[in-house]
Amino acid sequence: MSGWRPAPHLGLDLLVAVDRSGARPLREQLEQQLRDGIRRGVLHAGTPLPSTRALAAELGISRGVVVEAYAQLAAEGFLVSRAGAVTRVAHVERHEPSPPAVPGPPRSVRFDFRVEAADLSAFPRRAWLAALRDALHDAPDAALGYGDRAGVPALRATLAAYLGRARGVAAEPERIVVCTGMTQAVAVLARALRRSGVGRVGVEDPGFPVHRRVLAREGLAVVPVPVDRDGLVVQALEGADVGAVLITPSHQYPLGMALAPERRAGVVEWAVRRGAWILEDDYDGEYRFDREPVGALQALAPGHVVYLGTASKTLAPGLRLGWAVLPEGLAEAVTEAKALADSGSPQIDQLALARFIERGDLDRHLRRMRGRYRRRRDLLVGALERHLPAVVVEGLPAGLHVTARLPGAWALGPLLARAWERGVGLHGFEHGGVSRLMLGYANIPEASVAGGVRALAGIATGSGAPATS
Ligand SMILES: Cc1ncc(COP(=O)(O)O)c(C=O)c1O
Repeated sequence: MSGWRPAPHLGLDLLVAVDRSGARPLREQLEQQLRDGIRRGVLHAGTPLPSTRALAAELGISRGVVVEAYAQLAAEGFLVSRAGAVTRVAHVERHEPSPPAVPGPPRSVRFDFRVEAADLSAFPRRAWLAALRDALHDAPDAALGYGDRAGVPALRATLAAYLGRARGVAAEPERIVVCTGMTQAVAVLARALRRSGVGRVGVEDPGFPVHRRVLAREGLAVVPVPVDRDGLVVQALEGADVGAVLITPSHQYPLGMALAPERRAGVVEWAVRRGAWILEDDYDGEYRFDREPVGALQALAPGHVVYLGTASKTLAPGLRLGWAVLPEGLAEAVTEAKALADSGSPQIDQLALARFIERGDLDRHLRRMRGRYRRRRDLLVGALERHLPAVVVEGLPAGLHVTARLPGAWALGPLLARAWERGVGLHGFEHGGVSRLMLGYANIPEASVAGGVRALAGIATGSGAPATS
């Protein structure tokens, strides 16, 4: 192979390769690569190509080969070449794999019940901007380098203190790795688990599909473990033959209950006895409305639990800031996996978050938002009782969504499809023969809650389902 190398002539680099020892003629190889590049949209319309002489010299092949390849592609309509002018890529239809046939998001969402993020309209822009400005102003030049791959020390120290006081996590700054959201934390953790010999990981069933996919993508066998009204069925772990289990103990995703106290003790006992890991996804643990907050499970066995947190539900997913608090046995492997993944998360944003928390801005924001979310949740539950009394509302005390159990005769798929068509954004799931809607209240204004539920009731009635009893 003469190698993938840029052909830097006439100021033009072109990434092509020819294999002189291969069976296929050189002209065909060159044509094929250029054709593919143009079809896939890698070579854009109008892009100038190197002259035939320059490309031939660069690839160490005869000029005639390049002339023929260009001429063939021009004849096929992939290139435009005129005497005396540079040869350019023509306008060609791009061929991409068709997108999967899943219903996409509606073009415009009138009523947004999607369970995704904190209230994006309430992002504390002014306070964040001040934290960002001050962080950058005060940062030494060294802070603009790669820095500590596990995260900026100031943020890790601040997070250790915050997670200790707010979530009861036993955290040392040295055991915290800051990631690009919790999603990346799960990915690097998966790599570390594989290296340590874990091949199978239990996940809640039902559970968060994104994390399942991330784990599977990293080569782990994902083993569904059932969830009942008290959360994870810990007994089912015994036969599952897994080296770790990923759970949402503060607010089961998607059903919404907290893991019952005896189950909390049970899962920890299982992990200690089996030398296994618990991955604790505390995605929205800051929101608890009607009862005492439930602290993180991690504190029960810091040597066996990885605590996973995120700014996606407290501030905004767009920040892409998440963290893992690691037990000693995994700290080194996860830190290495994170370093190899991307050489560390953006430094300035980490410094800004550290400021934001230190100044009390996160606590202030959360206090304000808890009141707001609680009001919206109460409005939502009231509206569901009034307009959709046939559904059973569950998962109330925590988090940013409730679930609505549908009567057996209601078909989930058509209901969701019609809702999306009419601009009511929401998700649902089926589990154990029961269908449920997930109704998030973080991103729907108070004034729209009742209207959104009425719209949903109309859709349910229209689909033949009894909307009111
Ligand atoms: C169950 C669950 N875990 C974790 C996350 C957070 O992921 P990330 O921090 O990558 O945004 C979410 C976000 O919606 C979630 O629903």
